[in-house]
Amino acid sequence: MEKKDLDWGSLPFGYMPTDYSYVCNYKDGAWEEGGLTTDHSMTLSECAGIFHYCQEVFEGLKAYTTKDGSIVCFRPDMNATRMADSAKRLCMPAFPEDKFVEAVKEVVKANAAWVPPYGSGAALYIRPFMVATGIVIGVKPADEYQFRILVTPVGPYFKGGDTSIEVTIPDYDRAAPHGTGNIKAGLNYAMSLYPYEKAHEAGYSENMYLDSATRTYVEETGGANVILVDREGNLVVPRSATDSILPSITRRSLVTLASDVLGLNVIERPVKFQEIIDGNFVECGLCGTAAVISPVSRVAKEGFCDVTFEQSTDGCGPVLKKLRETLSGIQSCDIEGPEGWVVEILPAE
Ligand code: PLP
Ligand code: COI
Repeated sequence: MEKKDLDWGSLPFGYMPTDYSYVCNYKDGAWEEGGLTTDHSMTLSECAGIFHYCQEVFEGLKAYTTKDGSIVCFRPDMNATRMADSAKRLCMPAFPEDKFVEAVKEVVKANAAWVPPYGSGAALYIRPFMVATGIVIGVKPADEYQFRILVTPVGPYFKGGDTSIEVTIPDYDRAAPHGTGNIKAGLNYAMSLYPYEKAHEAGYSENMYLDSATRTYVEETGGANVILVDREGNLVVPRSATDSILPSITRRSLVTLASDVLGLNVIERPVKFQEIIDGNFVECGLCGTAAVISPVSRVAKEGFCDVTFEQSTDGCGPVLKKLRETLSGIQSCDIEGPEGWVVEILPAE
């Protein structure tokens, strides 16, 4: 199979329509059969639930071409489960988890020519999402939904790829205690856009949100979890006392790899932002499907803090670098990962 003629090494993290998307409708209390479509647009009633009460959930995962030319993706079952959890929280019908994985395979296989070649640094981003298509005017859940998967080839999420980024502490909150921070719903991102724009205007790439109840604990950024390395070389993973951090599949995979493969000591606990100010951490990174592990060189806010991570200043520090190499190596099958993590979609020709 011939790959598309694209400048794979210079792709931004952007959207381009590919050959197929996947679509499946929920009607009369059941999911229909579903299948591929070449139509990349949706036509909905002006009264569809999505437009009024924001019933929308989504996922993000990637497919990779391996050295031998096969196509694989990483832990799609975890995305299936998280999407079902997100749907439940917004009173939407869960898309069956086995059907989710099959749909991912089907749409990636159909778009095999769009999966960036091995070694290009790019990947095929897979964006499953579900919206309320049924009509509602009083506040209540809709009774019709559409599940879709679009795929698009992407490069690094943050400009510069490997180079470290600077983040700031916003004046706004991301997630209320016991709110929706732990699910992947568009509504969490809508309210992050304003602080995101403010951060950009001030020259920062992202916002590092603190817990909204006390503004003392580190939660996460707008689109990735935070991981830290302390002066003793422990991997420290901020946890939320009120379950308002998205359970990143990348972060959970890194915790396993750090302890089981790299023999690191992993500490998952609430982390006070003051500990960062006090200089207790030498490396900081943002982890996620889009971010992979993006090193953070500095977290600053005028009149509040200005901290540099001494080992993350011109790229990844040594611990996060090792973790990133291990994770990326597993994702593209250069390194054998734990059983079941890498799912083959198309064998080598
Ligand atoms: N946190 C937020 C708010 C995100 O949007 C994402 C991206 O999906 C993540 C964390 C990372 O999650 P994952 O590793 O499952 O992609
Ligand atoms: C992902 O990493 O898949 C996300 O959905 C994050 C988003 C900010 C692009």
